[in-house]
Amino acid sequence: MSESAIEARSVQRVYGSTRALIDANLVVAPGEIHALLGENGAGKSTLVRILAGLEQPDGGSVTVFGTPMSRASVADRTGRGMSVIHQDLGLVEALSVADNIALGARYPTRFGLVTSERVRRQAREALALLEIELDVDRPVAELPPAEQAIVAIARALRVGARLIVLDEPTARLHADEVRVLFARLDRLREAGVACLLITHRIDDVLRVCDRVTVMRDGRSVGMRNAQELDRDELVSLIVGRDTAKAHSGTRARPVPGAAVLELREVGAFGYGPVSLSVGEGEIVGLTGLADAGHHQIAQTISGALPATHGRIEVDGAPCALASERDAICHGVRYVPADRLVDGLAPNMTAAENLFLAGPQRGLWVRHRMERRATRDALEQFGVRPPEPDRELTTFSGGNQQKILLARSFLQTPRVLVLHEPTAAVDIGARYDIYDLLRRRCADDRCGALVVTSDLEEATSLCDRVIVMRAGHVVAELTGDSLALESVTQLAYGGTI
Ligand SMILES: Nc1ncnc2c1ncn2[C@@H]1O[C@H](COP(=O)(O)OP(=O)(O)OP(=O)(O)O)[C@@H](O)[C@H]1O
Ligand SMILES: [Mg+2]
Repeated sequence: MSESAIEARSVQRVYGSTRALIDANLVVAPGEIHALLGENGAGKSTLVRILAGLEQPDGGSVTVFGTPMSRASVADRTGRGMSVIHQDLGLVEALSVADNIALGARYPTRFGLVTSERVRRQAREALALLEIELDVDRPVAELPPAEQAIVAIARALRVGARLIVLDEPTARLHADEVRVLFARLDRLREAGVACLLITHRIDDVLRVCDRVTVMRDGRSVGMRNAQELDRDELVSLIVGRDTAKAHSGTRARPVPGAAVLELREVGAFGYGPVSLSVGEGEIVGLTGLADAGHHQIAQTISGALPATHGRIEVDGAPCALASERDAICHGVRYVPADRLVDGLAPNMTAAENLFLAGPQRGLWVRHRMERRATRDALEQFGVRPPEPDRELTTFSGGNQQKILLARSFLQTPRVLVLHEPTAAVDIGARYDIYDLLRRRCADDRCGALVVTSDLEEATSLCDRVIVMRAGHVVAELTGDSLALESVTQLAYGGTI
């Protein structure tokens, strides 16, 4: 039998008082797509950092294609054919797509000089492997999150890896982009390349993976063949309890009140004209594939991409949302998709992040009030560990996302615009967050617009779903017509 691509045995890792890994075991065979699953904070990214050589384990062993990695550097691992894409992608945002892809390998040179034409050509070739065309001269910072993830993957493919580790590449991808990526992974598998995939999208796992390893609280609790599992079994394995209650399906839809947000024939770069409304107490989903224009609408309502025509009304009053400050003044609270770029302050504590834009009170009163509110918010959103004074960067990715959502709930806006709210949030916490949002909208009579690429989220969370294609609204679904198959079909260009 050939040697394993990865063999991790009894790996341990402690951070101060946190035992991130207690007993992690993982075996990935050459040429298989293997999913590493588990709730937020289970230890997946920690294990990936150890596999990548970025951190040393406190115990246990790791081999890559039969070679012990105890003293190996990141470069040694790349030499063994392993390429790792981390949860934060590791791109240099100020540099162009081409430069970012070149940074992964060695810059192509001619007579010792870097030629920009070659850098660009190689970048285009790498992107072509993923069947994606991008302007390689654009700075990565200007790209939407989905395209940033594609750049990171193209960079990994460019170094000729035999083993690719992807820490949540699909969290912010659209259904069509996920499909492209998985089609690519399928072909890599045929070529004998192994892939370790970390994702919270359970349905994708069952569709493409050969085997899964599930982690819980720092331990691996099982390895299974994906074909032998159904969705419910896999979810209970991940959350460690029966989840029948979590997604019980049918629920009473609230009767929406007067419109809190109304867009009339609004247009801006990338979409329009679009008309839509969100009623008091209502949760409206806005979804589509990568180029549908729903992300740009989120930006317009948040004040980041001012409308070039049309009218926006909040509570019936026209308002110019020319900046993010304008939006806040009009009672619109925006929760961004990219939590670390325009959402949270990485070096501050959880409590400080929750109250960055908090009320100004006497210092002492404020301190006490904030501590109580922080603890409540962390508990409510299932942030683990629920410690207000922990620095944000020491929380796992999904737990950071929960803190971002918790912050938006501490305010009382008229309109809550949530952009990819549960990307990176685990399957157990996701349904709790949906419940919190429903209760919030019903109790405060605020309206929520959920802008999401996750079609499953659009159908299971929202009262009404607006589907967009190529910058226009193509359908609005509610009641019995609101089903995943219909939304998917409409998003891809079909009719129902
Ligand atoms: N630098 C650090 N300092 C302290 N604790 C840390 C640090 N990095 C990770 N942890 C803790 O280790 C545990 C495992 O985190 P890890 O990031 O591996 O989780 P994960 O399974 O990747 O979760 P997610 O699905 O949310 O990305 C968490 O409790 C986290 O708070
Ligand atoms: Mg992680």
